[in-house]
Amino acid sequence: MKILITGAYGMLGSDLREVLKNYELICTGSKDLDITDEDAVIDFISEKMPDFVINAAAYTAVDDCETHYDEAYAVNAIGPKNLAIACKKIDVPLVHISTDYVFDGSKKTPLVETDKLGPQSAYGKTKLAGEQFIQENAEKYFILRTAWLYGLHGGNFVKTMLELAESHDEITVVNDQIGSPTYSLDLAVAITNLLNSDKYGIYHVTNEGECSWYEFAKLIFEFSNIDVKVIPVSTEEFPRPAPRPHYSVLDNKKWNASGFVPMKDYKEALGGFLSLYNFFKTMKKI
Ligand SMILES: NC(=O)c1ccc[n+]([C@@H]2O[C@H](COP(=O)([O-])OP(=O)(O)OC[C@H]3O[C@@H](n4cnc5c(N)ncnc54)[C@H](OP(=O)(O)O)[C@@H]3O)[C@@H](O)[C@H]2O)c1
Repeated sequence: MKILITGAYGMLGSDLREVLKNYELICTGSKDLDITDEDAVIDFISEKMPDFVINAAAYTAVDDCETHYDEAYAVNAIGPKNLAIACKKIDVPLVHISTDYVFDGSKKTPLVETDKLGPQSAYGKTKLAGEQFIQENAEKYFILRTAWLYGLHGGNFVKTMLELAESHDEITVVNDQIGSPTYSLDLAVAITNLLNSDKYGIYHVTNEGECSWYEFAKLIFEFSNIDVKVIPVSTEEFPRPAPRPHYSVLDNKKWNASGFVPMKDYKEALGGFLSLYNFFKTMKKI
């Protein structure tokens, strides 16, 4: 099986390359294949003829999307549309990654795929447009909504906390945004469930369980035996350019009911990540 991974050098893309290394891979970054360029995407996919396409490319700087809407829309909405058109043309499945930020955060219990959508941020709006374009233009698609991704490659919350602790005795972290931290390696492994599946559609896929960013930060330091004071603050006390949902826990029950391998609990996933992170740090590879 020949698999095309777009955004192959980002956080998730790098884990996908590792997890799928025994397949024939075509890996592209934005310099090899700009997904916003419709002709380039159609020509590339028609020429390479992959059996399966995974789009891990996105404009992920959530706050920057507020001031760079057009660029974000091009990557997060037009890019997936182009891939959908190209995949339909050669009749192959497309896996696309979306986000909990397509919801408004007002629900108080885990969100299912059919819950009311209402992105609050520019990022969420562009990602929702991407989902809609795929549904309109592809026949065989999997849209996986995930959340709070962290992993070995690229910047993310877990790495930021560990780095801040090297120079700070106290760290303030928001305590009124609740979600499900998800290890990008676990998501990459989850995607392998789809390679031979025809159960197309939208799925919520995160590590199991929920916490606030504050609780997550405390856990990171507890698991790492780092003595740092974590101070809980409200979103209002820690304003950011883009609004974030207060509650965006995604319910994996459709994923589980479809027979795909259930996701790990987020605490177990964090433990696994930290072991690997510390190993690479000791080897001076991070
Ligand atoms: N990070 C999170 O917390 C989070 C949460 C929920 C969902 N997601 C979704 O999960 C997916 C993976 O996220 P991630 O954190 O792994 O992203 P990431 O590390 O920011 O990587 C995204 C990649 O997209 C590529 N890219 C950007 N513009 C492109 C273009 N025009 N054409 C082709 N490639 C382009 C970039 O490649 P170059 O470096 O080559 O430009 C970059 O490596 C995304 O769909 C994201 O929306 C992320």
